[in-house]
Amino acid sequence: MAHNVYLETFGCQMNELDSELVTSAMRGMGYQFVSDPAKAQVVLYNTCSVREHAEQKVWSRLGELALRKAREPRLVVGVMGCMAEREGEKLLKRMPVVDVLVGPGELDKLPGLVDNAIRTRLSLLDEKETQELLATPENERPDVSLLLSAGQVALAGQTSRRSATLAAAQDTLELLDLSRAISPDDLAAKGGAGRAAYVRITRGCNKFCTYCVVPFTRGAEVHRPPQAIVDECKKLADAGVIEVTLLGQTVNHYRFEHGASVSVGGVIQPQKGRAYGITNDPSGDPHRGESVTTFADLLHMIHEKVPAIKRLRFVTSFPRSFGNDILQVMRDSPRMCRYLHVPAQTGSDRLLKLMNRQYNVGEYLEFLDRARSFLHQPEIGRPLTLAGDIIVGFPTETEDDFEATKVLMRKAAYKNCYIFKYSPRPGTIAIDKFEDDVPDMVKRRRNAELLDLQDVIGKEVMAEFAGLTTDVFVTGVSKRQGRLTKARIAGEQGLEMGHVHSHAHTHAVAATTTAKPAGVSLTIGGKKLGGGDGNNDDDRGCAIDAASTIVGVEREDERDAMVPGRGGSNTPPTAAGPIQMSSRTDGDVIAFFDLPQGMSPDDLIGTIVKFKVKRCEPLALHGEMVGP
Ligand code: 5AD
Ligand code: SF4
Repeated sequence: MAHNVYLETFGCQMNELDSELVTSAMRGMGYQFVSDPAKAQVVLYNTCSVREHAEQKVWSRLGELALRKAREPRLVVGVMGCMAEREGEKLLKRMPVVDVLVGPGELDKLPGLVDNAIRTRLSLLDEKETQELLATPENERPDVSLLLSAGQVALAGQTSRRSATLAAAQDTLELLDLSRAISPDDLAAKGGAGRAAYVRITRGCNKFCTYCVVPFTRGAEVHRPPQAIVDECKKLADAGVIEVTLLGQTVNHYRFEHGASVSVGGVIQPQKGRAYGITNDPSGDPHRGESVTTFADLLHMIHEKVPAIKRLRFVTSFPRSFGNDILQVMRDSPRMCRYLHVPAQTGSDRLLKLMNRQYNVGEYLEFLDRARSFLHQPEIGRPLTLAGDIIVGFPTETEDDFEATKVLMRKAAYKNCYIFKYSPRPGTIAIDKFEDDVPDMVKRRRNAELLDLQDVIGKEVMAEFAGLTTDVFVTGVSKRQGRLTKARIAGEQGLEMGHVHSHAHTHAVAATTTAKPAGVSLTIGGKKLGGGDGNNDDDRGCAIDAASTIVGVEREDERDAMVPGRGGSNTPPTAAGPIQMSSRTDGDVIAFFDLPQGMSPDDLIGTIVKFKVKRCEPLALHGEMVGP
């Protein structure tokens, strides 16, 4: 019997990509994915541990499922991702409703473990027992915690850090990336969103920022072989993808030493990051050459070998060790996006030390200046757009530290900046070393102040776009337009509609515009995409940026623009005016324009067109299409 699976994803793009890979692997085994958890026999959560808030959401979901399992004892529940790794088997003790527990480094094992769990659940509950349980009135049923977990567990523990040799065991997780099923039909069904994809280049992180749980949950930095990455980009391009976002926690640290590569069964294995290769010399990696593929080399390779990828971008950059060699490749490669997400975290040198960030404010700003000097060319329609992350309320943060952060933000001139309240995470260095001594009230106030400040900065940054002609990637029909059209049609038909207007968000919130495989619902920080409200804190999971980040008032328009299949020719031009299209600049700024007369949305969705800016809002541009 084909089993229905519901998969909900929390957190960053790395999780989204993991969910996509798991989905395609399980589909290959005959599972079907559904968007309604009530219709699923298998419920999976791909979790995030970066802030407590994201974990709380999962705990509450699991609590609800425990009640459901009392009625449906065959239900299989799985927790995958960072929370599984961080909590380990303690999670099963606290929530026996969970049958499958898989860390982010072991995801290739998930389909097999779910299969085992389905069988185990059946054997745990013989038919008679199940029938008896179901026949018992709900209020008399035994405590659901008595229902045993199927106990299918795959966690990396700390093994990923124990093995220092390059000739580590076969990296089976690589097989999950390598076996990525890319179907042109599936991509086409997703409309504009199907033409953008993530490609992992690096897993894990070696930085150990003191507040961050990622090095513990995702393990040591591991780089994928360059050829595997290029091949994946080619496969995606052949299936119709035109925008690729390369993913890595510290993506600019990518480095692959060919002399040290290891093959297992003819497959070149990913390689552990080697710290000595990382240098802060702006001229780039001194070992660059025949035997080392640096990040700059990798970008160049993809750009040259896969010209069908019209936009190449990457997230997230670490402000250290970002050489001019990378900036030069970005400048010289017309299809590389001029967008950098480079978290600063704080503008206080004292706190940067406590955070173990390994740079100071001067070095950070020097990097931004260097990046601007290479890449900021509004005169040719190619400005550089910057995004940042800031943590407020890190232990011992004073008003002076906070003021220094404001100064940094003004100098950095981000298009958007994610502001997070410090959340002490078990297992991190900060939780052991520093008391969480900034009261929540103070964190909230600082959070709100920085959001307001960023609003002002964002407005100024966007004002620079006035009059510019630039390329935009058309993602779909704007949601507001679609809703208005539907409302009007419904009105004409005398139907009752729900609310028509989207919420106005005046502050930056993170959301992603990337396609979700059908039946995979994406949640950012516990907020389901396409619904709910959001504030800036806790909206984004991990150190991987929302590459296609939408911020502010127009967020819902853009979200909807990326809903698979949306904006097709079934949305007719209306008497209310032309159809409004939604698009993105290569710097990830949302741009709206009216569909030119005589064209259907399908003619444009998923293509890149020329756009002239007429009006700048704080977080979106309005203008017209001036050419293909
Ligand atoms: N508390 C608050 N914010 C955090 N981040 C990472 N760990 C924490 C934490 N413990 C933020 C950082 C990072 C982003 C993905 O999440 O700003 O860049
Ligand atoms: Fe690594 Fe980023 Fe976490 Fe620092 S904040 S430890 S660089 S993932």
